[in-house]
Amino acid sequence: MKSLLFSRFLLLLPWVLIVIIVLDIDSSRAPLPALYPRGGGEGGSGGERPPAPRRRPEAVLPTIYAITPTYSRPVQKAELTRLANTFRQVSRLHWILVEDAAARSELVTRFVAGAGLPCTHLHVPTPRRYKRPGLPRATEQRNAGLAWLRQRHQHLPPPQPGVLFFADDDNTYSLELFQEMRTTRKVSVWPVGLVGGRRYERPVVENGKVVGWYTGWRADRPFAIDMAGFAVSLQVILSHPKAVFKRRGSQPGMQESDFLKQITTVEELEPKANNCTKVLVWHTRTEKVNLANEPKYHLDTVNIEV
Ligand code: UGA
Ligand code: MN
Repeated sequence: MKSLLFSRFLLLLPWVLIVIIVLDIDSSRAPLPALYPRGGGEGGSGGERPPAPRRRPEAVLPTIYAITPTYSRPVQKAELTRLANTFRQVSRLHWILVEDAAARSELVTRFVAGAGLPCTHLHVPTPRRYKRPGLPRATEQRNAGLAWLRQRHQHLPPPQPGVLFFADDDNTYSLELFQEMRTTRKVSVWPVGLVGGRRYERPVVENGKVVGWYTGWRADRPFAIDMAGFAVSLQVILSHPKAVFKRRGSQPGMQESDFLKQITTVEELEPKANNCTKVLVWHTRTEKVNLANEPKYHLDTVNIEV
């Protein structure tokens, strides 16, 4: 009887070992749970994991630079938190946060320190004369981000594969969007949801080329696309050092066209998101908060950052 049990045990043992090994391989494939998944590409935690070859392709992945203009208001920290939660899950993403302010705020400084992803924190105030309804927003901030990017790469040897993307702080970004934009060769485009007075706007594609725009608003725009609807390769940004957002003569909704026509043509655009048939980013806009019951003077016993 005893030897029967023992032989059964011996028979089962290899299978149990195989199951254990398979489970182990599976869990080491799972996304890193660490707060700092990319910290310089080394992956910090997970000490037992062998230096797996799967890290190699990541080393050649083009860096995605996301330029986010942001300004102080009651929902700012909530917006930035939502963005960081998305960006933290994207490999090789460098976040360029540009505050619309005369100095770096304490709130954003603290936030950046704990964001858990590579960040560059810049600031530039919008001149008061441009802070009016109907005028384009965030012109100076996006330009500051562009200037930082160009300066940084002046000193680095060429080919530095990278992709630039303008990521406003109130939009909603799917992770798939970053996979799509990562392969941008010059300028890539895709649909944007909840914009232009319609459920979505999109570039119309025929035979792999953009031939027009599906939009409900100012279809006469040369590039009828929202800021969230395109990405530009770093190479294009560096080879067009004068391409910036302009205040002079710029009309609402024309910033994207004014910028894009400095660096590309409609014929040259690379359609992403299954020939521009998938919405992977939404131009969500956060409702203004109701602070009607907020006391005029500080009443609470503690001071809380919101
Ligand atoms: C639309 C476009 O999606 C924006 O890309 C474009 O900049 C904007 O219109 C425009 O009219 O210029 P919309 O939702 O109306 O977007 O604009 P916001 O989301 O309010 O602002 C765009 C970005 O600029 C946000 O990241 C916001 O935080 C920032 N911003 C806004 C500032 O830095 N300063 C401001 O005074 C206002
Ligand atoms: Mn917005």
